[in-house]
Amino acid sequence: MADAPVDTATSVPVAVVGAGPAGLMLAHRLGRVGVETIVLDTRTRHEIETTQRAGILEADVARDLVETGVSDRILREGHEHEGTEIRFGGRAHRIHFKALVGESVWLYPQTDVFIDLADARDRDGGTVHFGVEDTEVLDVTTAAPRVRYTAADGSRHEIRARYVVGADGSRSMCRNLIPEDRRVRYGKEYPFAWFGIMAEAPRSAPELVYAHSDHGFALISQRTETVQRMYFQCDPDESVDAWSDDRIWETLQARVAGEDGFRLAEGPVLEKAVLRFRSFVQEPMRWGSMVLAGDAAHTVPPTGARGLNLALHDVKVLADVLLRALGDGGEAALDDYQPQALQRIWRAQNFSHWLTELLHTPPGASPFDRRRRLGELDNVVGTRAGRTYLSEQYTGWPVSAQG
Ligand code: DHB
Repeated sequence: MADAPVDTATSVPVAVVGAGPAGLMLAHRLGRVGVETIVLDTRTRHEIETTQRAGILEADVARDLVETGVSDRILREGHEHEGTEIRFGGRAHRIHFKALVGESVWLYPQTDVFIDLADARDRDGGTVHFGVEDTEVLDVTTAAPRVRYTAADGSRHEIRARYVVGADGSRSMCRNLIPEDRRVRYGKEYPFAWFGIMAEAPRSAPELVYAHSDHGFALISQRTETVQRMYFQCDPDESVDAWSDDRIWETLQARVAGEDGFRLAEGPVLEKAVLRFRSFVQEPMRWGSMVLAGDAAHTVPPTGARGLNLALHDVKVLADVLLRALGDGGEAALDDYQPQALQRIWRAQNFSHWLTELLHTPPGASPFDRRRRLGELDNVVGTRAGRTYLSEQYTGWPVSAQG
């Protein structure tokens, strides 16, 4: 296969495997400074656009989308949230990010970020091939890596690049190119998953509500005036078919119920899915001429919505490093990528893990575990240090991630 004839061979400085937000944002950033890319994805554009993902962007990420010229749609259709609500023991506690750390977040779904990025690539004349098959990445330990693939119309192609970026998501094949004895995989599985729904209903709250209850976790998020996104903790092997609309609403209502009489506005459930998750990091993030970015190198549990923010931070650092590597810096410039990216990755790993454990009730939790968790929640919402810590982590860290 590696040397079988192909219909076309194209040379480009950077080939990108994966046209999710990380791959497209990298291509956009490089395109702005005149570096050409070809981006490939096995999924169709429609498939990516219709897969529900998280919805919270750090203020810096929102600013970057506007300032790098991707789109300013977020300013018109997104919603700036200056805080969030944490509910437990049947009571609501507002965490006012803006007052505590001077930052806010934006509710703007990942699917919209993807649409904006794909439109920007079209508008700027960037090359993205969706729906490709048989992608093979070759010769990454040389200075002339290649990517071969079959296009949606069945024709065979080769891309000759100087660098290849593996932005091919949580089931990355690129990361497997780093030999087993030269890589470390850090990971953790959780004994619960999220049951995610889209419902046709008005908003139940002005901001997000993260709820901890004795029955487990629930998250009340939003999409539009008439469509809402919600999640509740479930068994990883739960079957969606076992859940009628009535049962879903009963479960969600029980998890947010409290002495303030808070109730969710109900409506028809439009979509439902069980979302499994884990914590994962692979190091190193570079092998020869190939570099990993986003979910290909690390995934976080969804609590706190760090995943997309982290992926876009990776490519911000990476675009700069690749530009130097293609210029006078040479391949040695790539050495700067991993240390900068990893600092934020491990901070986000810690935060996502911490917030997940704080808000969920694992099956079989002892009375001590349950009571201690309430003590920790009280420490978080009831002390200024606790609220500030949560706000700082949730809204993201400055780019340097220092002090
Ligand atoms: C959403 C998802 C999250 O995991 C989160 O922490 C906040 C919001 C969402 O889908 O809107």
